[in-house]
Amino acid sequence: MNTESHASSALLERVQSRSAVIGVIGLGYVGLPLSLAFAEAGVRVLGFDTDPAKPRAIAAGESYLKHYASSRIAALHDAGLLTATSEMTRLNEPDVIIICVPTPLTRHLEPDLSYVSRTAEAIAAQLRPSQLVVLESTTYPGTTTELVKPILEATGLVAGRDFWLGFSPEREDPGNVKHNTASIPKVVGADDAESRALICALYETFTKTVPVSSSATAEAVKITENIFRAVNIALVNELKVVYAAMGIDIWEVIEAASTKPFGFMPFYPGPGLGGHCIPIDPFYLTWKAREFELSTRFIELAGQINSSMPDYVLATLANALDQRFRKSVNGSRVLLLGLAYKKNVDDMRESPSLKLMEKLEARGAAVDYYDPFFPTIPPSREYSALAGRSSVAWDVDAIARYDCVLIVTDHDGVDYAGLAQAAQLIIDTRNACARHGADLSRVVAA
Ligand SMILES: NC(=O)c1ccc[n+]([C@@H]2O[C@H](COP(=O)([O-])OP(=O)(O)OC[C@H]3O[C@@H](n4cnc5c(N)ncnc54)[C@H](O)[C@@H]3O)[C@@H](O)[C@H]2O)c1
Repeated sequence: MNTESHASSALLERVQSRSAVIGVIGLGYVGLPLSLAFAEAGVRVLGFDTDPAKPRAIAAGESYLKHYASSRIAALHDAGLLTATSEMTRLNEPDVIIICVPTPLTRHLEPDLSYVSRTAEAIAAQLRPSQLVVLESTTYPGTTTELVKPILEATGLVAGRDFWLGFSPEREDPGNVKHNTASIPKVVGADDAESRALICALYETFTKTVPVSSSATAEAVKITENIFRAVNIALVNELKVVYAAMGIDIWEVIEAASTKPFGFMPFYPGPGLGGHCIPIDPFYLTWKAREFELSTRFIELAGQINSSMPDYVLATLANALDQRFRKSVNGSRVLLLGLAYKKNVDDMRESPSLKLMEKLEARGAAVDYYDPFFPTIPPSREYSALAGRSSVAWDVDAIARYDCVLIVTDHDGVDYAGLAQAAQLIIDTRNACARHGADLSRVVAA
């Protein structure tokens, strides 16, 4: 047995016996549940986050994300299975380092890999032989090999010989009650067999793995999954507009089409895409494809259709006010229901609600919002003027005084039937009133 495979078998043994320490960089929507999954499987996790509030919260046994109870964090912290720090110099401590930092777009819709490269530099500064590094952040095919690997190899250590490297995409779906980190198979890609075997063993601590032949293939798998969603959502959004003009209800169409036992998969229309993934990730491939002088027409068309949805919703709302009350948007009072980009989550990144609020106000409407997940609007780069506003309380009498209620997010726990009784007019982008058996006489689909 040569020294490299001896080193990899030693790490494999530690991973399989659950004595390896796992470092997770970036303790957000992806990194926190991943850390919990490892720690609950009995593996020691050392989390890293440049935002000192997160290690502080973990040390205090407090959750900062709605879906993860403080008691879970406190129990794992007390058992010594979950600790966290902002000191990147401690990156030499874990046997395994998993990168879960953001991968946003720049203002010009180009990949912003500055978080990933800064993280790779922080790892390189501490890298020691036999560590395993796994990138989980969603990105274009080639990132692990072309961006992360050269930064780590600038240390003189060689990937696949002195340390191990690969990519395993995150498929977390916040708020999904049917699936969680431990029930979703992990796709694993690496450019050498030892790295691949180690990464598979790592995730087999808590779930099944699906090995693929390279890091780039695994990166392509993730981006394909998200492009598939973006394109199919665009398709139903386009159909929604066409069928609405024909007096056909898209929701009824989808429900009936879904009874076909093969060859159809339901996707649902909405007010526009939101969240950190679906509006963003497809454009990572668009950018990379340009290097090969190729265009990604489906992705760009889907982007155009999905990003035109807030204007469609606004036009529907304006028409309804005009036709029902001879009123214009200018001077109307609108209650916007739901800031989160999807139901039952406390995440408003890229949410169409903010765009709609801004557009309504630009046309002279007075807008309030109701969202139990957001008592106040947190600061964001794009909508800084909206930060600090507060949700109104749920009050059926007060609802009657708005000219219109705009349902953007269909959170559970809202009394849609009561809302439909009280409101003068409802613009429903989620079919929420119909699904909750509400009186539809004052409801307009958008
Ligand atoms: N949110 C999802 O549902 C989801 C699902 C699948 C994949 N992803 C992907 O996972 C990645 C992370 O997404 P997220 O939603 O968890 O983001 P997030 O913003 O919730 O969390 C990222 C965390 O990384 C920290 N951070 C930023 N730079 C850092 C650095 N240099 N060193 C250490 N910590 C740093 C931030 O403070 C933050 O706590 C992205 O690539 C995203 O596309 C997200």
